[in-house]
Amino acid sequence: MRKLGHVSYQDGKNPWWLRLFAVKSMEQIQTELASSEMKRTLDIMDLASVGLGATIGTGIFILTGVAAAEKAGPAIVVSFLISGIVAAFSALSYSEMASMIPVAGSAYTYTYAAMGELIGWIIGWDLILEYLVGAATASVGWSAYLVAFLEIGFNCKISTKWVNSPIKFESGSFMTTGDYLNVPAVVISLVITTLLCFGIRESTRVNSVMVSIKVIVVLLTIFACIKHINPANYTPFIPPNEGRFARYGVSGVFSAASTVFFAYIGFDIISTTAQEAKNPQRDLPIVICGSLVVCIILYIGVCLIMTGVVPYKELHPFIDSSDPGNVSTSITILAARTGLTWLSIILCMGIIFGLSSVILILLMGQPRIFNAMAKDGLFPEIAARIHPKYKTPWFTTTLSGVLCALLGGMFPVDVLSDITTAGTLFAFFFVNIGVIVLRFRCPDTPRRFKIPLGPFVIPVIGAALSVVLLSTTSPSTIIHLAVWIGVGLMVYALYGRTHSKINNPQLSQPSGGKINKPVAYHKDIPLRNLR
Ligand code: ALA
Repeated sequence: MRKLGHVSYQDGKNPWWLRLFAVKSMEQIQTELASSEMKRTLDIMDLASVGLGATIGTGIFILTGVAAAEKAGPAIVVSFLISGIVAAFSALSYSEMASMIPVAGSAYTYTYAAMGELIGWIIGWDLILEYLVGAATASVGWSAYLVAFLEIGFNCKISTKWVNSPIKFESGSFMTTGDYLNVPAVVISLVITTLLCFGIRESTRVNSVMVSIKVIVVLLTIFACIKHINPANYTPFIPPNEGRFARYGVSGVFSAASTVFFAYIGFDIISTTAQEAKNPQRDLPIVICGSLVVCIILYIGVCLIMTGVVPYKELHPFIDSSDPGNVSTSITILAARTGLTWLSIILCMGIIFGLSSVILILLMGQPRIFNAMAKDGLFPEIAARIHPKYKTPWFTTTLSGVLCALLGGMFPVDVLSDITTAGTLFAFFFVNIGVIVLRFRCPDTPRRFKIPLGPFVIPVIGAALSVVLLSTTSPSTIIHLAVWIGVGLMVYALYGRTHSKINNPQLSQPSGGKINKPVAYHKDIPLRNLR
């Protein structure tokens, strides 16, 4: 190892296979943190607003109905509990990591520090599924609620050809649906991308308002519908299995748990704000665990109401191609049962705002990961540049937004949410393992929050549960994940391996090539809009 500027590098003479495991040292991370230009402005409420803003969304407002109708019946509440427990174990691991390595790269930096560059790269690449594809999933949910709102509120019927995905996944292969494009999903992705590129000021307040509206929507759903519960709808609580895996029965409950795990994704995104938190070591663990607990409570409330008011088989959202504008979402089906049209309209409006905040925060998180990877040389330096005038990471924001629009416009919610969930569980597995590795590799690095019961119990359970839940997703989802990771490995072999700063210190020397061109780096992407 030798020092170059403020960063320690490997000497670049190790055999190629050993270089794949070059770790980012704690010293290096600390030096990067010390040179950070980010202002620490986010207090605990701002962080909670990011956490809840990213978490409550398509999962509870769309996927609950799908999973109850197709897989778990009223036992969807158990599925939510199972996936909440899985998320809780990983939340503890994220909390320890965030209190130890409070940097914006989240799981990418944690795994880089714990298991070396190759695993770090794989996780960074995998996080694209969580952030970018997650945002696309939310855009499809947004589209469904917009169409339902226009139909219920204004009797305005849009042809389903323009609000439905042209591609679906059935019987193990992709096929066309005959529809053209999900236009609202494309439009919302591009609008939010434009806002992010220009830098939306004062939007902490906007985000807090959107989050408050979302929580009010959930509470309103619960309290306005509670008196319409028919206890008979809870029977049978676990509908008998219909002869194939995941069609009700116990397998259905577990499979539904992996479907609705999507609803918990987002609490980990709080860790990407670590460099702007006023007191990250104290606040991040509190907010990561706290927002998860709030979500578990709210989700269980919504599940009990939904399945108590509507017979579970009727909860499936649908788009009726023979009847333009006939789009139903789980929440509007629920509200329709109460006979209160105003409730449907208010809930739709609230959810439209709420899903916008999910898209916003996920599309804001993605460039931070690209930025962290570009600073390590694993992506081209353009991914770390900022716009000279607007001070935003315009390139990666635009790239993420356009890809999000394409995915949201072309694919249905189940395909997108399944792959997002699989990618997130994959990352959670490695973060749990990373906690154990770092307890031994860096025992003396201060951790403001330390997982109780020693280095093994909770991370091992967290890692094992992540694998179990991953294994209950469909085989095709696992294949999609494997293909994505395979593509990532090829990109690493062709680009990252030869441009990695840790393994190619000559590239960071003043005459060492393109990386040192005098460009405006987005050293740290300010979360100005959440301030
Ligand atoms: N958990 C977020 C949602 O449900 C990603 O939309």
